Amino acid sequence: MDLPEDLPQLYRRHIFACGTQRPPMHPRGSCGQSGAQPLWERLGQKIEAAGLSAEVGFTISGCLGFCSAGPLMVIYPEGVWYRPRSEADIDHIFVRHIQQDTVAEDQVVVLSR
Ligand code: FES
Repeated sequence: MDLPEDLPQLYRRHIFACGTQRPPMHPRGSCGQSGAQPLWERLGQKIEAAGLSAEVGFTISGCLGFCSAGPLMVIYPEGVWYRPRSEADIDHIFVRHIQQDTVAEDQVVVLSR
């Protein structure tokens, strides 16, 4: 069996964006409570409008495990985590990471356990 790195890749990049929505007073909070939904809608629209749907996977995921840091998204294969706060942040990440193949360093969030 081939090692995973030898397998052909379906996408050039794959974005996972947390879509978890917990009740307002939930102690863990959630990315949904932090305003994730309109940001992910914008990102999905930008991918589609740019004609990149076949090469950039975009998946609304369950909880990514760092709820208080949200809204969170992670882009593979680099494994870079972002915490966009506004549509302008989404636009910046899209241009830098997806279109220019460069990390949007000012939007990166470094998480620790
Ligand atoms: S709710 Fe988004 S990381 Fe947990």
